[in-house]
Amino acid sequence: MTAQVGVTEGVELPHRVADPRPDAARALAELWIAVTEAGGAVDFVPGWDPEEIRDLAVATVDEVRTGGARMLVLGDDTDPVGTVFVVPGTGIAAHRADVQRLMVHPGAQGRGIGTTLLEAAVAEARDMGVEMVTLGARGGTPLPGFYAARGFVEYGRLPGGVRLSPDDARDVHLFHRVLRPSPGWAG
Ligand SMILES: CC(C)(COP(=O)(O)OP(=O)(O)OC[C@H]1O[C@@H](n2cnc3c(N)ncnc32)[C@H](O)[C@@H]1OP(=O)(O)O)[C@@H](O)C(=O)NCCC(=O)NCCS
Repeated sequence: MTAQVGVTEGVELPHRVADPRPDAARALAELWIAVTEAGGAVDFVPGWDPEEIRDLAVATVDEVRTGGARMLVLGDDTDPVGTVFVVPGTGIAAHRADVQRLMVHPGAQGRGIGTTLLEAAVAEARDMGVEMVTLGARGGTPLPGFYAARGFVEYGRLPGGVRLSPDDARDVHLFHRVLRPSPGWAG
């Protein structure tokens, strides 16, 4: 079952998948493998064992089913054009949420869909009542610039935080975007 956020005449908008259908993990894996093989920067590199990607897709959709993450898709959850996940913090981090695994099918990139999904994720986080969203972006790609151009502020870097191969480690650029002032922030 899907919870429709909204459809403007002729223009499909991302919607939240509240209850992923049985085929959703397979569909997410297909998208993720295609994005990875095209050079996308979502947990893997081209040539990665597709079984590992499928396993992570199953775990990711299970997180959605158990309420540990919210999934937004453009298109059908069994045939998505793009997707993004919003993972709420817990305990003393419950006032923030992490945006993860933003991906658009390689055949549909560069048409504004990624920007729309990112804004939908921010709107979802706002609806959840959190004060800020965070995300990490792989260095040496256009991604840090993509997020910086969309209201995210880089607050640090994890040097060599992801290893793409024995001789290629990249920084993870850490971003946040404040949604509303944090009461009682003492720094
Ligand atoms: C990054 C991504 C989600 C952007 O979605 P999109 O629909 O292609 O982007 P839009 O059309 O909304 O915006 C175009 C912007 O994306 C950038 N972009 C386009 N293709 C890209 C790609 N393959 N990788 C990174 N950035 C890309 C362009 O430089 C452009 O940036 P600018 O407007 O600041 O100049 C999409 O390209 C993608 O799925 N990439 C592979 C997966 C990935 O790396 N995800 C990021 C996880 S942190």
